[in-house]
Amino acid sequence: MDKTILVSGGAGFIGSHVTVELIEAGYGVVVADNMSNCDMTCFEGVKKITGRDDIPFVKMDFCDAAAVDRLFSDYRIDAVIHFAAYKAVGESVAQPVKYYKNNLSSFLNVLESASAHGGCNVLFSSSATVYGEPDTLPVTETSPRQPATSPYGNTKQICEDILRDTVKATAGSEGEIKGIALRYFNPIGAHPSGLIGELPRGVPNNLVPFITQTAIGKRECLSIFGNDYPTPDGTCQRDYIDIVDLAKAHVCAVSRMLDGDMEEDYEIFNIGTGRPVSVLELVNAFEKVNGLKLNYRFAPRREGDVTAIWADPAEANKKMGWKAERTVEETLAAAWAWEKHIAGQE
Ligand code: UFG
Repeated sequence: MDKTILVSGGAGFIGSHVTVELIEAGYGVVVADNMSNCDMTCFEGVKKITGRDDIPFVKMDFCDAAAVDRLFSDYRIDAVIHFAAYKAVGESVAQPVKYYKNNLSSFLNVLESASAHGGCNVLFSSSATVYGEPDTLPVTETSPRQPATSPYGNTKQICEDILRDTVKATAGSEGEIKGIALRYFNPIGAHPSGLIGELPRGVPNNLVPFITQTAIGKRECLSIFGNDYPTPDGTCQRDYIDIVDLAKAHVCAVSRMLDGDMEEDYEIFNIGTGRPVSVLELVNAFEKVNGLKLNYRFAPRREGDVTAIWADPAEANKKMGWKAERTVEETLAAAWAWEKHIAGQE
């Protein structure tokens, strides 16, 4: 099909899974990453899964405007999927300047070069965090955004706005930008090959890596943050989306842009399952599917957590022809296989 997709931050957790799906769908891919939050494990895994040793890889920082521009000169890019960003909520509260500087300037550089090189399709990796604590559930794309509770969350909102405004300003021009923002719910799991997955540095912030690290003995005990929430079992509810399903949504979105199927020049889609799962339910499912017992205890609520959020994915189902397919059990089995793979036990 002869179309080339630039994947910024393509060596990371989500980027590597998306790269696999793009290649398997027949797209050409250029992976670029500054490797600030990952090593080459996942990129090497991508090569093994796809059987491709020739995937272009550029080590570069998207905050370096000249380097970004060089990329657009060196390759004819038909679409960009922009992942390159910092993502730790707590760190963003402690170091807001680092977050605003990195997450905004890298995206601005992409948009500037993309437009200067004759326009482009831009897919921005956004987050359900833009909905904050929702008033009604499930959330649709028209549910109101709430003021962000962290600089990280704010960068997602600001980047969505930057994309929307740029699409509007460039419409019909030579440097036309068309955009899609995908609002991810909680991506979890790993590739069924066991060759790529999440590689958190230090103590994991997110639930599933903490569960798998506890199960394998790297952590003593999982703390479940809060069991007095107004939910059926008292623990928070989320919409956990399988990483391969999430990656496939990117292929659908890219095809939608490249095939001229967009209804508006800037579109937003929720990428979730539509199914709420509580922390306790997730822990129980992990124990059951993998046949083990997890050491956990209830701990006080974590500051900034919303009680419950899950997606209405109807827009993505209908307009992009995308649907989450894997069950939470399959996903948790893949997450466990990956943890064992990196621990060298399999
Ligand atoms: N949790 C625990 N124990 C842990 C880790 C998490 O009980 O050790 C709970 C949390 O309290 C929450 C649920 O598990 O109820 C999910 O927590 P995660 O950290 O895995 O995910 P979040 O829903 O907090 O995070 C999501 C996205 C982030 C985004 C954030 C914004 O994964 O990228 O929403 O709030 F920034």
